[in-house]
Amino acid sequence: MTNPCSVTIRSLLLILSATLAPPAAAVDCQRSGVANYTTTWSVGASGKLTVVFLQTAARWTVRVKFSPVVTSMVTSVATAERQLATTYELTNKGYNAAQSAGSSLVIDFRVGFASAPVPQVVSVATSGAELRSGGSTTVTTTTTTTTAATTTTGSSSLPYNYAVVLRKSLLFYEAQRSGPLPADNRVLWRGDSALGDSGDDGEDLTGGYYDAGDHVKFGFPMAGMTTVLAWGALDFADGYAAAGQTGYVLDAIRWATDYFVKCHVAPTTFYGQVGNGSIDHDWWGRPEEMAMPRPAHKITASTPGSELAGETAAALAAASLVFRPSDLNYADTLLAHARQLYSFADMHRGEYHKSITDAENFYKSWSGYGDELAWAAAWLYRATQEASFLTAARQHFQAFSALSQRASGFSWDDKRAGAQVLLYQLTGDAQYGALVNEFCDWLASGAPRTPQEQLFLQPWGSLRHAANAALICLEAAEAGLNPAQNRQLAKEQINLILGDAGRSYVVGFGFNPPLRPHHRASSCPDPPAVCGWPQLSSPDPNPQVLHGALVGGPDAKGEYQDVRSDYVKNEVATDYNSGFQSAVAGLLSLHVRGLYPAS
Ligand SMILES: *[C@@H]1O[C@H](CO)[C@@H](O)[C@H](O)[C@H]1NC(C)=O
Ligand SMILES: *[C@@H]1O[C@H](CO)[C@@H](O)[C@H](O)[C@H]1NC(C)=O
Repeated sequence: MTNPCSVTIRSLLLILSATLAPPAAAVDCQRSGVANYTTTWSVGASGKLTVVFLQTAARWTVRVKFSPVVTSMVTSVATAERQLATTYELTNKGYNAAQSAGSSLVIDFRVGFASAPVPQVVSVATSGAELRSGGSTTVTTTTTTTTAATTTTGSSSLPYNYAVVLRKSLLFYEAQRSGPLPADNRVLWRGDSALGDSGDDGEDLTGGYYDAGDHVKFGFPMAGMTTVLAWGALDFADGYAAAGQTGYVLDAIRWATDYFVKCHVAPTTFYGQVGNGSIDHDWWGRPEEMAMPRPAHKITASTPGSELAGETAAALAAASLVFRPSDLNYADTLLAHARQLYSFADMHRGEYHKSITDAENFYKSWSGYGDELAWAAAWLYRATQEASFLTAARQHFQAFSALSQRASGFSWDDKRAGAQVLLYQLTGDAQYGALVNEFCDWLASGAPRTPQEQLFLQPWGSLRHAANAALICLEAAEAGLNPAQNRQLAKEQINLILGDAGRSYVVGFGFNPPLRPHHRASSCPDPPAVCGWPQLSSPDPNPQVLHGALVGGPDAKGEYQDVRSDYVKNEVATDYNSGFQSAVAGLLSLHVRGLYPAS
């Protein structure tokens, strides 16, 4: 049997030969198959690998291949990314990027697996791809079974690599794209889809996002998640910049706002849904292969929808602020649509589920439209600085008494807490600050939690509610409201999602991540294999890794199973990731500013 290690090294030498002399010593293939596990348990093991650098390196990437398959690999000294079921790629952290010739690095790691036997490391090698794009001097590695104690305490290292979480969360948004995909699409198992989406008069309604594991384009939660993404991109821009994700978050927002502009076909006509929920949910498969009718549903002056028009106005106003520094014309376009949609929402009041009746069973706004009117007016005030919008926001607070009560959460439905904290940020008015304090104090001590201390505000997709609460309190801290308590709360809740509760709840990230999200497209094998209902019930991991998707999460008892058919605990959704992603950007921003809470 060919040693996989030697195969890797031969190709490595070919790549290197143009610019570098061959390494003085080859990888030690005799010993590269050994992982020295120090602890093993039924579904995991921890161990050590030592990488010996035979040449000076400015940065490094190491591929570790296991047999049989592993479900996760984590290490504190590198960023571990799943490449295949058997292969993880480890990339240096900032503090250990530079290695001198002859130095060795001990990599403590944990692997997860479904059942015995414990996977063994069958090869360790540098990645050819990295060598080609590198330019810097490359490394060659070998492994030994050295167990020399190493404490690699990186300077000010974070408990989780938030930059990688941001990158993956943005990949999740790419995986949710509907319509014709651009050439720079990074999710290679996705293609063009729903190219026939159109309005009653043939208006082009392609684009936008599939809502969740299904393929309806539900406008109301799509607008809500866009506002929340834009909020994070504005207030935590330094977090995105530190992660190198600024361009990608702008792209994610623009994918939604381009679509909203298409849907806004006249001042008081807005398409708020494409697809019929029941017809869509009667099918399982790839979005590229959908053949069911996808009717478009709109609101008009006589069949209005104030939650939908209001939230879309908020999204476009927030996005106008995001794009203003880089694309003035686009920002102006978005703001013009935001003004018209706000006016439509305010002047032609009505609950949107009565006009778009198909939305009632899926995204009925239980909280009514008062919260969206106030939220939209506050965003328009932030975007324009025109006093009339502030007056309007204050009037909505007077008119809708629920707005002046402590919120019980922040969600695609209920924007109260968002309006309260945004208005406090914009005005410093103590009445709004008091409401925000009541909410965050209740979250910090009083609100329901699971045994793992996760906030448990609602059962369906409990983690997005915890993450949304984290975002509200991070925003409160930005305005000077109890910064220590509120940042600590956000750190606690986000880190519970990333691994502190014993596992990761983000697909493709961290220790023991979900492998079977309730998500049609990623449940399908590569074509030409057929995809249908058997993929929903299959016990196997999703063939495509839906990197970055936050799953619904545990129940009140903190219990969770990684089962694809469980859409309460294991579905994913564009609204789930929005508050989560913005909160992660917020934590990274705190780190950049030296404000990340100490333990
Ligand atoms: C693995 O590590 C243990 C504990 O550090 C050590 O006693 C043992 O000798 C190591 N095994 C090998 C094969 O090096
Ligand atoms: C959606 O499809 C179902 C099943 O065909 C149908 O009964 C329902 O009327 C449709 N809804 C709308 C709003 O067209």
